Amino acid sequence: MKKAFVIGHPIAHSKSPLIHGSWIAEHGLDASYEPFDVAPEALAGFIDRVRQGEFVGGNVTIPHKEAVMALVDEVDRLAKKIGAVNTVVADAGRLFGTNTDYLGFLASLDASAPGWDEGLDSAVVLGAGGASRAILVALIDRGVPAIHLLNRTPARAEALAAEFGPTIHPGPLADFAARAGTAGLLVNTSSVGMEGTGFSGIDLKLLRPGAVVTDIVYTPLITPLLAQARAQGFASVDGLGMLLHQAVPGFTAWFGPQPSVTPELRAKVIAAMGLA
Ligand code: ATR
Repeated sequence: MKKAFVIGHPIAHSKSPLIHGSWIAEHGLDASYEPFDVAPEALAGFIDRVRQGEFVGGNVTIPHKEAVMALVDEVDRLAKKIGAVNTVVADAGRLFGTNTDYLGFLASLDASAPGWDEGLDSAVVLGAGGASRAILVALIDRGVPAIHLLNRTPARAEALAAEFGPTIHPGPLADFAARAGTAGLLVNTSSVGMEGTGFSGIDLKLLRPGAVVTDIVYTPLITPLLAQARAQGFASVDGLGMLLHQAVPGFTAWFGPQPSVTPELRAKVIAAMGLA
């Protein structure tokens, strides 16, 4: 039996076992995908078990995404740039670390807003924390010519611009009005939107007509930002799509088949999370 894992601390909240378990059943595989609560001091020991062949690989979540980079044998270029590994693939005792969050982000937009990147002159990204890095790598990799990176603490946006290069134009959130006019894509990568929080002073009417608005927050599924986008007639893409799509490359690498992100799977995860 091929065994895969998801490790984190805590791990009980993870919906990855539901997603991969559904695909394993759908494809009739002799495989498993199990959660393990691994404390930071136990991480190296767990990775040794993986190297010894107990697992075909697995997912890595908070708080291990950075620490695991030093424990695997190879980390791919974009995962290095993002600074985090969320997927490990074992191959004959060698461990390969990658990051599928940026692929999940792009696949979710491609599925829900096809053509979003055609003729895209610029994008606005809100938030310059850890989650922002995967989004910036995705947008740069896709060739978006200019990215306005706006953050409550502008110094963090400036630091990312210094690291990621001239595509990134950093600034404070208050710059939204000045930067939004040509943007065909707005991405929230900050935690704003969770638990009833919202931005003040972000007026989506300033975006280019036909712009796409997406949020990586998915609790709630429709954040205040997405509600505003819908009300104003912009295409909106919720954060659950990224969670579902980021799981696809790992599943294929460990087990072989290319699984599908279907409305049924989405509904299952929504029901399990109690999302409305
Ligand atoms: P993550 O790794 O999930 O991105 P993080 O590194 O703590 O978490 O970053 C959270 C992001 O949400 C940051 O961009 C943060 O802005 P600051 O850099 O100014 O802290 C942003 N954020 C959190 N709460 C916010 C709020 N109330 N208003 C605006 N931005 C907020």
